[in-house]
Amino acid sequence: MAHDLLFRLFPLLALGVPLQSNRLGPTSRLRYSRFLDPSNVIFLRWDFDLEAEIISFELQVRTAGWVGFGVTNRYTNVGSDLVVGGVLPNGNVYFSDQHLVEEDTLKEDGSQDAELLGLTEDAVYTTMHFSRPFRSCDPHDLDITSNTVRVLAAYGLDDTLKLYRERTFVKSIFLLQVVHPDDLDVPEDTIIHDLEITNFLIPEDDTTYACTFLPLPIVSEKHHIYKFEPKLVYHNETTVHHILVYACGNASVLPTGISDCYGADPAFSLCSQVIVGSAVGGTSYQFPDDVGVSIGTPLDPQWILEIHYSNFNNLPGVYDSSGIRVYYTSQLCKYDTDVLQLGFFTFPIHFIPPGAESFMSYGLCRTEKFEEMNGAPMPDIQVYGYLLHTHLAGRALQAVQYRNGTQLRKICKDDSYDFNLQETRDLPSRVEIKPGDELLVECHYQTLDRDSMTFGGPSTINEMCLIFLFYYPQNNISSCMGYPDIIYVAHELGEEASE
Ligand SMILES: *[C@@H]1O[C@H](CO)[C@@H](O)[C@H](O)[C@H]1NC(C)=O
Ligand SMILES: *[C@@H]1O[C@H](CO)[C@@H](O)[C@H](O)[C@H]1NC(C)=O
Ligand SMILES: *[C@@H]1O[C@H](CO)[C@@H](O)[C@H](O)[C@H]1NC(C)=O
Ligand SMILES: *[C@@H]1O[C@H](CO)[C@@H](O)[C@H](O)[C@H]1NC(C)=O
Repeated sequence: MAHDLLFRLFPLLALGVPLQSNRLGPTSRLRYSRFLDPSNVIFLRWDFDLEAEIISFELQVRTAGWVGFGVTNRYTNVGSDLVVGGVLPNGNVYFSDQHLVEEDTLKEDGSQDAELLGLTEDAVYTTMHFSRPFRSCDPHDLDITSNTVRVLAAYGLDDTLKLYRERTFVKSIFLLQVVHPDDLDVPEDTIIHDLEITNFLIPEDDTTYACTFLPLPIVSEKHHIYKFEPKLVYHNETTVHHILVYACGNASVLPTGISDCYGADPAFSLCSQVIVGSAVGGTSYQFPDDVGVSIGTPLDPQWILEIHYSNFNNLPGVYDSSGIRVYYTSQLCKYDTDVLQLGFFTFPIHFIPPGAESFMSYGLCRTEKFEEMNGAPMPDIQVYGYLLHTHLAGRALQAVQYRNGTQLRKICKDDSYDFNLQETRDLPSRVEIKPGDELLVECHYQTLDRDSMTFGGPSTINEMCLIFLFYYPQNNISSCMGYPDIIYVAHELGEEASE
């Protein structure tokens, strides 16, 4: 058969694994999972061992044909690595480490670096389970890093290894994520409250950022929110891309209704403090055991919900009622969580030139005046999580901590940022910020596709450079941003300026 020429047939009996079993590989639970396509045909589970630098993937696809999973880069699928496998009609299994030499053509790697752990086909699914090192010495394998990784998944309706656009999917995932144990005791008096946009008619545009102000649950005494969970309405296609919850200060006049988050109405950018971000397809976000979001006291903020919808097939008449489910309790945690916004002040004197391969903006926060500004003695800040935020030109961000002129650490970074993946991430271990520390946010932009200046601003055609640090215990400082020397900028622009 022609198939035999295309596939590297694995002598399964030589591997010593039974063919029919569904549990070929290690039986350990894979902690992470996500659908990779809008129609929920491809389901990925994965797990990793940071010390051994090995990651394992289990790809389950609703097909009897071949399945493939690998890593790609931002701009093209050519050069992507793809591990492919399947079960032939005669029951023989094939499995191979390959790469794309063209958009639709695969070639086997000279070095086989993926290890098969299981490959089965039943009436509905083909399931492939394999492991691979984070890094191999094969130039055809792309590294698994602690950045956003663009994963590539593809499948066929039969065992002919050729890629088709409609069955090839790329999704950004932060694979090497850290999560707090999800199985922590659920407080007995948990109350659930849904923040949602009800019966929203999704515009027939590719992309919509819908924002609305929603009241918090009304409680007469202090409670803590300990978990957020995306609440998604399942359509035949996934339309919700990400959900962000922002907190507003004590703004007295808030607009009503639903509006474009990054549009003309400036009231929608009043609330800039991210409380939680959730990438769709991701799981719930649970705060560390000792921290919660305080509600029910006069100082607590009002909220805004942002839902990013995509409607790439421009389907008309799709109504959605997605949102965020809030879990809260009167059993208080030790600390109220808080957010410190760092980066470059969002205003039009943030210039990013067009046609730049790489342009950096820096926002420096010097914390030496924090205690004075706080109005009360201030304990050290314990950071446990973060969220990175630029708009479409952002390519990488990092926050670096300095003490006494020496770099202490990178608090967080992503060298492969994707605007479509807005999610709260936990730090592997808590980071302490002491008064006097300096926090430098570095944003890296690319504007090769633009021919005019990009300015700072809230709209998606403008840019931002922000990192939100989630920390405890609470203090009165919510933001510490850098901005340029305005007088200098004015002089450079030939404008009059005075102090
Ligand atoms: C989803 O359903 C709508 C109507 O219910 C239909 O028009 C559309 O083609 C479906 N999309 C897919 C991908 O099946
Ligand atoms: C917010 O407004 C309410 C009612 O006007 C007031 O009681 C409360 O003190 C305000 N909180 C802050 C932080 O200003
Ligand atoms: C910075 O250095 C000074 C002088 O050596 C020392 O007194 C101070 O404690 C240091 N600050 C921190 C935060 O370590
Ligand atoms: C915030 O500032 C006020 C004074 O303006 C002070 O009384 C209060 O203790 C401060 N709160 C915190 C959490 O430090």
